[in-house]
This record gives sequence, structure tokens and C-alpha cells, in this order.
Amino acid sequence: MANRLTTLASSINDRVGKLSAYLSQNNLPCPSFDAEAASHAPLGGEAEAIALELQDLGLELHDLLRGPIGLVLNHHLPPIPIYDMILRFGIASKVPLEGDISFADLSKSTGIDQDVLTRLLHYGILHRIFQEKRPGYISHSVLSKLMRDDQGMQNLVGMIQEDIVQPWRFIADALQKWPGAEDMDQVALLLAEKRTSTTFWNILAERPERAERFAKTMSAFSVDEDIGADYPFEQLGAGTLVESGGSTGGVAFKIAERHKDLKIIVQDLDEIVKTAKEREGCNVSFMTHDFFKEQPVKGADAYMMRWVLHDWSDTHAARILQALVPVLKAGTKILIVDAVVPPFGAVPETSQRHLLKFDISMFALFNAGERTLDQWKALFARADERFQLQRVWPLRNSQLSLLELVWSP
Ligand SMILES: C[S@@+](CC[C@H](N)C(=O)[O-])C[C@H]1O[C@@H](n2cnc3c(N)ncnc32)[C@H](O)[C@@H]1O
Repeated sequence: MANRLTTLASSINDRVGKLSAYLSQNNLPCPSFDAEAASHAPLGGEAEAIALELQDLGLELHDLLRGPIGLVLNHHLPPIPIYDMILRFGIASKVPLEGDISFADLSKSTGIDQDVLTRLLHYGILHRIFQEKRPGYISHSVLSKLMRDDQGMQNLVGMIQEDIVQPWRFIADALQKWPGAEDMDQVALLLAEKRTSTTFWNILAERPERAERFAKTMSAFSVDEDIGADYPFEQLGAGTLVESGGSTGGVAFKIAERHKDLKIIVQDLDEIVKTAKEREGCNVSFMTHDFFKEQPVKGADAYMMRWVLHDWSDTHAARILQALVPVLKAGTKILIVDAVVPPFGAVPETSQRHLLKFDISMFALFNAGERTLDQWKALFARADERFQLQRVWPLRNSQLSLLELVWSP
């Protein structure tokens, strides 16, 4: 008789059949954690949706079999400290690319007690970081190889560990201490940092290497997204696009590559702009500007903000939009690139979890969060009724959308 386990198994079987057929038709490799496996291979097309469904099905099967206590234990102790240890002790570069190294030799070269090191790395291996193909010897998996060679992966791990995981731990304390707070100086982040008053951006400003890591990780999140292809910037011709909070220009450079005539001005805080570099032959320049102050570039054809407003509660986000008002003319476009949260349960759990990770992180860092379409509409109306939402453009290979507003006095 069918029960949930057999239903799950047959759904998995069905989707695996479809995915395997897609992989072989498109000459794509089967996913693997072997060191030689592809580190980043978006499947594309309908296969993405099937892969998401399969992740949901696999997770449900796993969770059902673990049971409630096992699940709590699983959720409780993620391998983040193992990542941290690997980075701090340079373990990934001490493991040879070809072949393996014994735990004993690794212990000598790191100075970590062999027994402790073995236990910690075994926990990592169980999370696909490294492999132990013969007892007592450790070799690379595709994940540990990325930690060795890929600056983006190192930045990501460092940022998750220091900027995200720590504040998450203090969410309940912040809720008790500052119920209903909307300001940036009453957040879990401050409790994690043991500070009484500052903001995430000030903390980054005090630690340039942390600011640089944050900026680089932000650009890494947009590698597969191509706003310049998905939104018709050609309608702006040789006009001017101002990107506020544009960091070191990762997105602007990508747009500029496709739209050579467009003049793009990227604005951010001084300490970020100082680290930005213009590129020869690219129509992108940088300018220090605090987006709470009146916009200094008057009469541009479009003003854009990507992944900015989700950092701010409605009160502050409305002020950021209002600072644009004095320089807008009828028909100016305001392009907001951010997530539009679907109703709970409307998308696969795997996607929903991913979005909520960002949403809750914004809460822990800023008392802010991702918005549904209705919440976006309410924000625009609160800022000024003359911000008219014209269209929501989905972006391929991205969890973000582009909300196109037109200034309509
Ligand atoms: C989440 S990041 C997004 C960066 C970039 N737009 C992207 O999509 O990768 C938010 C950006 O807002 C900038 N920012 C924060 N406060 C600002 C302010 N008052 N004025 C201008 N930029 C600010 C930060 O420095 C950071 O670069």
C-alpha cells in the first residue's frame, strides 16, 4: 500500500529519469563532488525546475527518516566552524591537488593535534568538504578545491561566518531587547558585535578588509544574472544611468559591456568608492554619495538601486526614494532590483528556504527584509504617489526581479 515513503520514492524515480535524460541529451555531466567535477554548472531550462523539485523530495525523505530529534541535532550544528578552521589554518592548500595526505602529516603542518584535526575534518567530509578515499588519508572534493583556489569561495565562507552566522545567533535576544525596532542600531548584529550603537556599514568602514570582502561577495552573487540582457537599457540610448549603492560596479560594468553608449555613474559610500577601479573603454565612473542626501546628478534618464532597499525598513527606504524626487523629471525611470517574495508555499521549499535565509539575514543585520509585491507597492506609495510601478521584469538566473517605476507627476 502506498505511504508517504513510497510516494516520495516514486516521485524521485520519475524526476531522476527526466533529469538524467536531459543531462544525456545535452551532453552534461552527472552532478558529483569529485575533485574534477564542475564547480558551477547551471542546468538551464526545465531541468532547473526538476532539480529543485528533486531537492525538495530528497530533503523531505531525509527529514522524515531522521525524525524530530535527529532533525534538531542536524539543524543545530552546521559545519561552518569547520570551514572557518580550514580557512584560518590554510588546510585546503596543504592537501595536494593530486593524490592525498595523511592526517598525521596534516597535523604536523597545521600544528593541530592529530586526533582533534581528524575528528573535525571527518565532520567536514560528511558535509562533502574533502574526501577520505583510503583510511587515514585526505584528498580534495570539488568543494574543498574551491576553498583552496577560489577567492570568491573564501570570501563567501568568511562573510557567512563573520557577518551572518554571528548576528543570527542573537535574533531572539534582539527581539526581547528591542521589540518592534526599525532602526539599524537596535539589531541582533550589535549584540553579536558587543556594541551599543553603530551600523553594519560603519562596522565595515572601520575594517576595510571586511568591507572589501563584503563587496566582492556581493558581486559574486550576481555572476549568472545579466540585467543588461533582460532589461531594455537600449531605450535610454546615450543617456545617463545612475546606480546608487552600486558598490564597486560589478553590475554596472556588465550593463556597460552590452550598452556601450550608456553613461553609468555608480555611487556608494566613500570607503567603497575608494576601492573601486574604473575600466578602460568602459563608460562607468564612480562618485561618493550618501543616498539619504539629495541626489547630486540631476536629470539622469534612469536611477537604479540593486539589492539596496532590502537593507532598509520602510521608514528609511521611503527616505532613500524621496531623496531622488528633486532631480526627477516626468518619465524618468527608477529601477529597483530586488527580490519579490512569492506567497509562502508557492515555490519549491528549497527556493523558499534560500529566500528566507536572505530575508532573515536582513532582519538580523538591519531590521529590514525582503518584500512581497504588495509590500513593494505600499513602500512606493508611502515614499510618493508619483512613483508609478510600470512593470516587474523577471531576471534569468537570478532570485531578483527588476521593478520598473516611472516618475509620473
Ligand atoms: C547589499 S549591498 C548591494 C551592492 C550592489 N548594489 C549589488 O547589488 O551587489 C548595499 C550597498 O549599499 C551601500 N550603502 C549603504 N549605505 C549607503 C548610503 N547611505 N549611501 C550610499 N550607499 C550606501 C553599501 O556600501 C553597499 O555597497
